[in-house]
Amino acid sequence: MAQRIDVKDLNIYYGDFLAVQDVSMTIDPQSVTAFIGPSGCGKSTFLRTLNRMHEVIPGARVEGTVEMEGVDLYGDDIDPVAVRRNVGMVFQRPNPFPTMSIRDNVLAGVRLNNRRISKSAAEELVEASLRGANLWNEVKDRLDRPGSGLSGGQQQRLCIARAIAVKPQVLLMDEPCSALDPISTLAIEDLIGELKQDYTIVIVTHNMQQAARVSDRTAFFNIAGTGKPGRLIEMNETSTIFSTPAEQATEDYVSAPFLVRASQDVAAVGT
Ligand SMILES: Nc1ncnc2c1ncn2[C@@H]1O[C@H](COP(=O)(O)OP(=O)(O)OP(=O)(O)O)[C@@H](O)[C@H]1O
Ligand SMILES: [Mg+2]
Repeated sequence: MAQRIDVKDLNIYYGDFLAVQDVSMTIDPQSVTAFIGPSGCGKSTFLRTLNRMHEVIPGARVEGTVEMEGVDLYGDDIDPVAVRRNVGMVFQRPNPFPTMSIRDNVLAGVRLNNRRISKSAAEELVEASLRGANLWNEVKDRLDRPGSGLSGGQQQRLCIARAIAVKPQVLLMDEPCSALDPISTLAIEDLIGELKQDYTIVIVTHNMQQAARVSDRTAFFNIAGTGKPGRLIEMNETSTIFSTPAEQATEDYVSAPFLVRASQDVAAVGT
């Protein structure tokens, strides 16, 4: 079910602005790949090219290829809507539909895709997706209550349930824990560890401990200054990136204390 992704020579533009330059990488199936790097280096931008969400911004475009199991997602005959169905996304802030019930939130993506399913099949899908997101036991008695009545961590797991209900093959997560408390964060991290049995997972995180805990491979992106494009500096096994990276810039980033790294982030944006 999980799919391998091969990115080749990808340049990513917002209009005339080259935001990310010349990225080539392979993302392994049934594994977790982490993207790290200072603010503004293009992690989110690059992530959104993996399910063709980038191009929904007017003027935004890419050069190069993103192949999934050898098929270029940017090929002429590829339907971007089908790509987004196949490659699900979870965002930084949990974004359940607030007035919709927990059940309807889980089914929202499926209904958007116009898939007709019977009532009993829908019930099964709701349970399986909520179990998959480690949320079932906490919500099984209140499926008709609004999704907004859940805690932040529960809402994020609800969003993960919504994403996996459409049975994607790849799951992209952009800082999925940054709005969560430590307990909810650990719950999501555990869940990511389980989901990788079935999915190809890519996670953007500013939390080095999180990257080290959840990912198999890590890609470090960097930016030379404002107006310059972000670049992939190196990618390797996570343990290697954190212990013996090949590039000095990687070493400086991963070994800097959090506050130094945060101020570097600000400096990278401010220069
Ligand atoms: N919609 C947009 N239109 C124009 N430029 C954009 C847009 N979104 C992002 N950018 C620019 O693209 C570059 C990369 O931004 P991006 O959000 O991908 O960085 P990031 O690494 O995800 O940063 P952060 O860690 O702060 O989330 C930045 O220079 C940013 O200003
Ligand atoms: Mg971002």
